[in-house]
Amino acid sequence: MATKNFPPNFVWGTATSSYQIEGGWNADGKGPSIWDAFTQIPGRIHEGETGDVACDHYNRWREDVQLMKQLGVNAYRFSIAWSRILPDGTSNQVNQAGIDFYSQLIDELLANGIQPWVTLYHWDLPLALEMEKDGWLNPEIADTFADYAAVCFEHFGDRVKNWITLNEPWVVAVLGYGQGVFAPGRTSNSEPYLAAHHLLLAHAKAVQVYRSRFQPTQGGQIGMSNNCDWREPLTDSPADVEAAQRALEFFVAWFADPVYHGRYPQCMIDRLGDRLPKFSEEEIALLKGSSDFFGLNHYTTMLAADSGGEVVQGNVYGNGGLSEDQDVVLQQDPAWELTKMQWAVVPWGCKKLLHWLADRYDNPPIIITENGGAFPDELKDGQVDDQDRLQFVKSYLTACQETIEEGVQLRGYMLWSFMDNFEWASGYSKRFGIHYVDFETLERIPKASAVWYSKVIAANAIVD
Ligand code: GAL
Repeated sequence: MATKNFPPNFVWGTATSSYQIEGGWNADGKGPSIWDAFTQIPGRIHEGETGDVACDHYNRWREDVQLMKQLGVNAYRFSIAWSRILPDGTSNQVNQAGIDFYSQLIDELLANGIQPWVTLYHWDLPLALEMEKDGWLNPEIADTFADYAAVCFEHFGDRVKNWITLNEPWVVAVLGYGQGVFAPGRTSNSEPYLAAHHLLLAHAKAVQVYRSRFQPTQGGQIGMSNNCDWREPLTDSPADVEAAQRALEFFVAWFADPVYHGRYPQCMIDRLGDRLPKFSEEEIALLKGSSDFFGLNHYTTMLAADSGGEVVQGNVYGNGGLSEDQDVVLQQDPAWELTKMQWAVVPWGCKKLLHWLADRYDNPPIIITENGGAFPDELKDGQVDDQDRLQFVKSYLTACQETIEEGVQLRGYMLWSFMDNFEWASGYSKRFGIHYVDFETLERIPKASAVWYSKVIAANAIVD
């Protein structure tokens, strides 16, 4: 195999999020989040599991940083639990123990040569904001989020140079307010668009605060992480080609067009009528150009066909936006290999998506802030030989490397995930980690994929 080198200074990382790994759900003054509440509702989570303890990263972070050092990553993406810092979500009360926790983690990472990439919101909204203020449905949340962001920039910005405002606002809007499978568990065909609107404004206001008050002295960059699968037209008929395009616009352009172009995609404006809120001129000015890089979380590909006007039922995880608003039917090619999430392994879809984003947004710097897979890992003689995950990552990294050679400005790759963790509604039944976690003893064990990934990082190239 020809050597597949990555550019110098390529960002090599792994990713996690607060609720999925920390535990310590009520430790040292932390307030509850909507995920602490949602996991208590019978029937919502696989086997009633919760993130109360999760990987106990709250107590084992030093050990985790050592594992990262052994891996050789130069970046680690984690998120801050908003209610660990601001127990009721507002800056009226700052929890010093929460500040100290993240501050020590940041110091430990830097002391080990690892740059922190910090996500401000990875879905664990302070419960008080949901109960008392209607969460993301209330326009006030944009300012509340910007206040919280300012607290983080103030305490950590001297050392953190890479900020991600929101993780996957699509998931928050569609799974949280549309299909109700994630917290706060609401179902509606209009709330997702309202929640998304406020998520975008929250992002824009946080970026404004960063750029006006912190970036000039601290340096650093800020952006948003969007999730998007690739949508390949089922046939080359114009109707299917348009359907695939529409599906991508309802998925990622919903969030990225406002940030790069200052408006929602035309097909959403045309189809949603009053359900799609409007931005004021002032809001457009705030939004346009509000990301220094494009954060992309990418997992899979589906085939898209025009539904021919038939009503399409919303399917969980299946589509971008609400399916019935798009007239798109999705399916998988039966020849595709599936991960344990039933997501198809299609590396060429990653390539096509990267090109689509580069074309639509004028070739921005892109960081893959998540990519990886859940596989049926087995612990044998104290080891996990996860060749399926290794091949998955290898195939996607190969696609990434080729895309860079073709001129796309892909600057980094963060593998999801550093370790097995609480996989939302699937609880602990889906393992995404390159470190195996024994959820009884909380022991961490590097899998074969971790050993291989460390060689790739050391070589700055894809190795066998
Ligand atoms: C992403 C999410 C992560 C992780 C991953 C695997 O959507 O940001 O938290 O769960 O998917 O499902």
